[in-house]
Amino acid sequence: MAGTDKASLPSSPARYATEYVPLLEGSPAMREIRTLIESVADTDATVLIRGESGVGKDLVARSLHAASNRANGPFVKVNCAAIPQGLLESEFFGHEKGAFTGAHRRKPGQFEYANTGSFYLDEVAELPLSLQAKLLHVLQDFRFSRVGGHGAIDVDTRIIAATNRDLEQAIARGEFREDLYYRLNVVEVRIPPLRERKEDIPSLVSRFLTSFNQQYGRNKQISSETLHRLIEYPWPGNVRELENIVRRIVVLNDGEQAFEAMCARRRVNHAASAPAPITTESLRDIARRGAREAERRALAEVLERVKWNRAEASRSLKVSYKTLLTKIAECGLTPPNSRLSP
Ligand SMILES: Nc1ncnc2c1ncn2[C@@H]1O[C@H](COP(=O)(O)OP(=O)(O)OP(=O)(O)O)[C@@H](O)[C@H]1O
Ligand SMILES: [Mg+2]
Repeated sequence: MAGTDKASLPSSPARYATEYVPLLEGSPAMREIRTLIESVADTDATVLIRGESGVGKDLVARSLHAASNRANGPFVKVNCAAIPQGLLESEFFGHEKGAFTGAHRRKPGQFEYANTGSFYLDEVAELPLSLQAKLLHVLQDFRFSRVGGHGAIDVDTRIIAATNRDLEQAIARGEFREDLYYRLNVVEVRIPPLRERKEDIPSLVSRFLTSFNQQYGRNKQISSETLHRLIEYPWPGNVRELENIVRRIVVLNDGEQAFEAMCARRRVNHAASAPAPITTESLRDIARRGAREAERRALAEVLERVKWNRAEASRSLKVSYKTLLTKIAECGLTPPNSRLSP
């Protein structure tokens, strides 16, 4: 079913060391997360993983499972946002035959499948309030009954939850139960966004490069200029976005240039949208500033397109070479190489 997956291969603590530990090394923030994972792995304490989309919450959940003494049991993931709300309860707890229209057979729930392993509730903030209440109840004693059933079923599993939402705000808005929040948040793992741990970028790039070169039978290298750009870039989509960019660089012939052009567009947009200080400028000054900004943007775009070949840019913009140089200086534009030097 969409939103649910089960680990098909048995895991073991050895797998944690070889597969996961190398991904949790690097920045002090990630090393701290690794220490936390290892210190709580065998405790069965419920763990709440928080962080923006793409920071590595799934990875941390799987690492925690792999490091625990449940590693040989199943890792069952349910994405609470991917399953229609009406089906969530039966997906979690299963149903008996005839429990509702369409329930032709008895079906165990994912909670049951997670017996002896870990139950990963992804995007937990999306759970409807009614199911939050039921989940809280079940988490008191890990005993539940299937939808339409009466017998109690006991489950031995470890709960790991994740969210990219501000749960405190969801509680304030009445969208998330405070008691469930405390029940889930026994141990909190906060994964910082990639822009706050840029030390991780070079090793991630090199890991992705090796893996995609292997996957696509290429031998692409990344120039030090592009690496600088990759470090500079703010990564709103975090590690997932970095992974996709490196994949594009490996797959496309002009992948590096495409990334460079994307950075240039961002710089230009950023410069244009920087908040203007409150001033007492006249309307004429404001109009002049607007025109200058438009000129700067056009100039930057042309220069990026011709890779800073000034003669070609002057022809393209139909100004003399000297005028072009003056404009470049007036607009404070600098070629990529000099921007990279400290
Ligand atoms: N430290 C890391 N080393 C290698 N790959 C990583 C690392 N962190 C994340 N990734 C990769 O980045 C991608 C996104 O990670 P993941 O799915 O764990 O993020 P997420 O926080 O769960 O995102 P979402 O909120 O969208 O569910 C995955 O392909 C994952 O393998
Ligand atoms: Mg995820």
